[in-house]
Amino acid sequence: MDRKILVTGGAGFIGSNFVHYWLNDPSHSLLNLDKLTYAGNLANLAPFQSDPNHIFVQGDIGDRDLVRKLLEEFQPVAILNFAAESHVDRSIHAPGAFIETNIVGLFNLLEATRGWWQTQDSVFRERFRFLHISTDEVYGSLAPEDPAFTEETPYSPNSPYAASKASSDHLVRAYYHTYGLPVLTTNCSNNYGPYQYPEKLIPLMLLNALAGKPLPIYGDGRNIRDWLYVEDHCRAIATVLAQGQVGETYNIGGNNEKTNLEVVHTLTAILDEIQPRSQGSYRDLITYVTDRPGHDRRYAINPAKIERELNWRPVETFESGIRKTVGWYLAQDSWVQNILTGEYIATNYQGRTHA
Ligand code: NAD
Ligand code: TYD
Repeated sequence: MDRKILVTGGAGFIGSNFVHYWLNDPSHSLLNLDKLTYAGNLANLAPFQSDPNHIFVQGDIGDRDLVRKLLEEFQPVAILNFAAESHVDRSIHAPGAFIETNIVGLFNLLEATRGWWQTQDSVFRERFRFLHISTDEVYGSLAPEDPAFTEETPYSPNSPYAASKASSDHLVRAYYHTYGLPVLTTNCSNNYGPYQYPEKLIPLMLLNALAGKPLPIYGDGRNIRDWLYVEDHCRAIATVLAQGQVGETYNIGGNNEKTNLEVVHTLTAILDEIQPRSQGSYRDLITYVTDRPGHDRRYAINPAKIERELNWRPVETFESGIRKTVGWYLAQDSWVQNILTGEYIATNYQGRTHA
């Protein structure tokens, strides 16, 4: 009962990893509300098909009536909001869906939650948590010598994606200050690991390499991201849910700043070692393509607050996490084939000329 939560976006990359993490404990249960956009994949949840602790509902976080009905029926002790449009490149091609889900949808989710939460008794209301999963991209771009993002870094979003997530963070904050809704917000760095849709850097490069296709590096390849293994992230979220201070935000990062070229070189070296090509190195497939417009140069998270206050630390180094990730994708042929038949990959790279 205590461990009964509502997860939104639980068929996506991080959400489905969290479902796996949470349901590892048989005393836990969850209701999984997901719209199943291109990024949502029921195959990510295959082990829970007949698990009574996992209830899946296809639906939109913006559907207030549906959310209210689900809350009344299920009475979760917490809502974890993973649902979002999450890819920067897509937000450049078509920002509308980002405004719809990440801002308007989130607003409707908050309204449905508030309406239901206010009808509960005071003990329940106090114990309830609304945990919003957000990104370090709300803080903007760092210069090489700048200190890493802390929870005090001013928001400065640069892409439509980052702006929509920044808006959602502000709304969540406002529901705490205005209505007393017990919220928590986490801002994490780039995740990688199992079940990531191959529009994002690591699975895209990995699957292209295995297919002998070009590895498209935007610009000079020296943009820096701070990589976090998804299971470390899931453990951080569970820790914030259990121990986080209501109304606070927590930055979550893996202490792994890497240039995109370093990431791709590491990946290709692992592939050369465990599944060599018949001729040459996977590195030979690297191709420089036109840069992403407004491409943020560097992200870096200072995770001191969550380490100090909640005693969370990442377990994986980049080297250990990337090996696990490569091993997972190599073992998941049908999952990979299934996802590669989707529409996106062709659309994004169609207009990109070689640099
Ligand atoms: P994802 O794109 O893989 O999955 C998003 C999921 O949300 C999908 O299952 C999709 O079907 C669902 N969804 C989309 N719109 C919905 C709607 N209106 N109603 C219900 N469900 C909807 O995303 P992800 O990479 O798992 O990211 C999860 C969260 O973490 C997002 O909020 C994202 O902003 C944040 N985040 C991700 C990263 C990363 O590296 N992937 C980094 C920082 C923060
Ligand atoms: P991405 O995985 O899209 O995450 P985000 O933009 O949220 O950080 O991209 C990670 C980095 O990799 C980013 O600097 C853009 C770069 N990148 C490429 O160079 N080529 C690609 O094909 C993709 C998808 C990303």
